[in-house]
Amino acid sequence: MKMKKILIAIFAISLVPNISFAGPKAEVLHWWTSGGEAKALSVLKADFADKGGEWTDMPVAGGGGDAAMQTLKARIVAGDAPAAAQVKGPAIQEYDDQGVIKPYNIDAVAKAEGWDKLVSKQVAQHMKCNNFTQYCAAPVNIHRIDWFWANKKVLDSNGIKMPTSWSEFNAAADKLQAAGIIPFAHGGQPWQDATVFEAVALGIGGNDFYKKAFIDLDQKALSGSTMVKVFDQMRKLKSYTDAGSPGRDWNVATGMVMDGKAAFQIMGDWAKGEFSAKGLKPGKDYYCSPTPSNKGYLYNVDSFVFYNVKGADKLEGQKLLASLIMGKNFQKVFNMYKGSIPARLDVSMADFDDCAKKSNADLNAASAAGGLMPSYAHGMALKGAQSGAITDVVTEHFNSNMSSKDAAKKLAAAVKASL
Ligand code: GAL
Repeated sequence: MKMKKILIAIFAISLVPNISFAGPKAEVLHWWTSGGEAKALSVLKADFADKGGEWTDMPVAGGGGDAAMQTLKARIVAGDAPAAAQVKGPAIQEYDDQGVIKPYNIDAVAKAEGWDKLVSKQVAQHMKCNNFTQYCAAPVNIHRIDWFWANKKVLDSNGIKMPTSWSEFNAAADKLQAAGIIPFAHGGQPWQDATVFEAVALGIGGNDFYKKAFIDLDQKALSGSTMVKVFDQMRKLKSYTDAGSPGRDWNVATGMVMDGKAAFQIMGDWAKGEFSAKGLKPGKDYYCSPTPSNKGYLYNVDSFVFYNVKGADKLEGQKLLASLIMGKNFQKVFNMYKGSIPARLDVSMADFDDCAKKSNADLNAASAAGGLMPSYAHGMALKGAQSGAITDVVTEHFNSNMSSKDAAKKLAAAVKASL
């Protein structure tokens, strides 16, 4: 009799976790609030719900994620990390150094599903913690930064072809300006200035220069004559913007190109997500082509990091999310909406549009030519202190009469001080 009671008690205890486990849950912090971004994210939300998951949305609006990263930091300092957050590049390892990610709950999923074989080594490295030995983040895509987007009708009716050099771009912009069209749709926010700046730097300086300046943080590259030329082109670009540019959101700038109010935008291919969400097609309504460079490609991999949280439901939610993010069909559908290309290498590009196919082909060509570069402006190349120091100078120059020489000097000094 006594034995029977004990057995019943043990049985009841063993049931406790199951009774309290109400299914996988995840609070997800992100900044995907524009039309195209939200549409892409809804694919993940739907997949999660289909598997019985309960998604708590934590959107923090603001392109480029600056505001989202502030909110995230505050939550972590308060000891209230979300289960998952959109975090990229070296910031992932910085969080790991703070000890808020381990014990790397999703690593078992990654190992079981063989992620090392599903993504490139370069992408895999960005996703790993614990000295790059364990997965702590899951990649959703590969965005390309160095793109021109242009309104087809505006270009065609003004006899302009997509520029293949910066001087061709300047000539086209002069012509459009004379015709009363805003040549360059730009949102004057620091991260957008930085986005344009790194595309110009890659084009004018070349791959080695980009690497020296924004990865090695070489003082000579940061202050030298090539950097002066980069700032000269930034000044030109500024002269092609309209008076409403300061503070404008990136998707509003994309809207100006869509509506034919402006001719060009320089922006990562999440801009294509906006065109797609409006049913517009490349080659028919708009043009895409890489900004001029010598087989360069600035990559930006979006990923979700999974923090150290408690509770079986949250831990299961993290594992489910990680697995869904790396799902083959998810990577296809999500990226068709988002404007990017899959991080998974085995997803066929056959159903993607021509811009995405070009991105994929160029990525491989750039990789072979040594031109595949992490975007500094989107947090893929540097830690926050260094990328912030660079962007501050870029923005200050863009919004003042500072000379290119002074800007280059200031850039090198700011980076030195940030180290
Ligand atoms: C980037 C991010 C993209 C896109 C963009 C604008 O940093 O990687 O996915 O959302 O910001 O918000």
